[in-house]
Amino acid sequence: MWELWIILLLLLFVFFFVALQPNYLPRLIDFFRGTTPPGPISFPIVGAIGVDKARPWKTFTKWGAIYGDIFSVFHGVEYVVILADVKAIRAVLNNPAIDGRPVNWAGRQMNNSLGVGFADGLWWTEQRRFLVNTLRGIMGLRSDNSPYGKYYPIAVQELLASFANTNGQPFLVRPIIEKAVITSLSSVVHEGQLTGEDPKVPALFEAFSTFFSASHNTNVINTIFPWMRKVPPFRSQFYRLKGAVDYMANCARFAIGEKRLHELAEGEKPMDIVDTFRREMDKSDHGVTFTEDQLVCLTAELLMAGSEDVTNIMIWVVLFTALYPEEQRKVQDLLDKVVGEREVSVEDRSALGLVDAFVHETMRFSNAVPYPLPRRALEETKYLDYKIPKGATIITNIWSIHFNEKIFDDPFEFRPQRFLDGEGNFVPSPNMLAFGTGRRSCPGMEYAKKDLFVLLASMLQRFKIELPEGEEKPDMHQTNDGVNLTPQSFKIRCTHR
Ligand code: HEM
Repeated sequence: MWELWIILLLLLFVFFFVALQPNYLPRLIDFFRGTTPPGPISFPIVGAIGVDKARPWKTFTKWGAIYGDIFSVFHGVEYVVILADVKAIRAVLNNPAIDGRPVNWAGRQMNNSLGVGFADGLWWTEQRRFLVNTLRGIMGLRSDNSPYGKYYPIAVQELLASFANTNGQPFLVRPIIEKAVITSLSSVVHEGQLTGEDPKVPALFEAFSTFFSASHNTNVINTIFPWMRKVPPFRSQFYRLKGAVDYMANCARFAIGEKRLHELAEGEKPMDIVDTFRREMDKSDHGVTFTEDQLVCLTAELLMAGSEDVTNIMIWVVLFTALYPEEQRKVQDLLDKVVGEREVSVEDRSALGLVDAFVHETMRFSNAVPYPLPRRALEETKYLDYKIPKGATIITNIWSIHFNEKIFDDPFEFRPQRFLDGEGNFVPSPNMLAFGTGRRSCPGMEYAKKDLFVLLASMLQRFKIELPEGEEKPDMHQTNDGVNLTPQSFKIRCTHR
């Protein structure tokens, strides 16, 4: 009789796991057949044991050394293929079958997959095309005839004035950078309806950070127990996330509502994303995805994706100017030679290769984006002889590339010159993948690079940056981890040059 009970219990157990995690058994069979990429043994629901929860890329790098540059594992209930080789990353991410985003992302669930970053299918194709074309049009304009050209000098002035107001006293740099970044970004999103001086800005950045840290922690719940989001102890996390998303949407609605459309003169083009979108909506034959809800989600998403990433990299930039004074001096010598006393302009970029090189080296050395937004296999596909099953999440482990000595000489040294040719021109490296690659790569890349360039160059032209006397050097291994890595809070001191 007891045998029957054991069999029944076993069947119940199997039924339970198959119902909760239908992808587990097929992947286990693939694992033993060797059809999918190799990897450590994974258990149902919990996945592989021993992942460093705060810094999973470190565990992935360790496993990469054992299983190779492409391996797979269950990360919780999610079947993940991890890539740590530039050639493999380029090949896989450029495959249209890998153009999806994981469905479990909290962001995707909270905004009903609107926007661009979390959208799939027609919604993504139509809106991505719109966004890329509009941004290209705006950023392609000369500075003296573009909303960005009008607002970035305001952002720079805000930054310089805030630095000057510190009167040589130590200060926290983040709030100052946040203000400048949102002022520039707001110019291309909705022509400056939300500048750094707006009282909503600090709470908006708080909402971005809540969104990133909470969505990082809620993936398992979102995948298998979505109903648990409303049950303690997950409830508070869920409502925090919802509050953040609602706040971002309200800021976006405010900025959209404030914007008045004017009659376009003959040959005149709309100047920002909200404006262009609304004119598209007015057309009788507009695409089905041009809706009010989409406009709100897209605006909120751009404010978040743009300002959080640019702010974070800029904070690392400031930290490295203080930690590497000799590199700071080299940039200042070049600025004195090329720009002198006049204001820096984005048009100076080609003559100031070292500034772009400094930003690039910062992105490599800080590893601010340890693994970019994941992708999802929309259908079963292959890389080399390996099957990548439909629904698999694809993660690129950028950390292991940035610190690979076969790719970058002396990877643990901060050396911007590695991105310069013999004449001092900036030479981008094909091994830098912080903006992703393929049809889903970052549409804001050109904008971000220009903004980082102009903020760094303007700052170093006017100020010498250093760590205040007695201030502990922030521990580079103790970063605040969410989707992005940010340095621990630190103070700097600046003095007029
Ligand atoms: C230093 C700054 C930035 C970094 C490091 C960064 C990085 C990334 C990465 C890695 C992706 C995913 C790419 C992929 O799946 O292959 C992405 C996507 C995206 N980024 Fe950025 N980004 C930055 C700035 C911006 C800015 C300024 C904007 C907006 C103006 C923006 C808007 C987006 C959007 C909308 C997507 C989703 C694209 C899609 O799914 O088709 N980003 N970004």
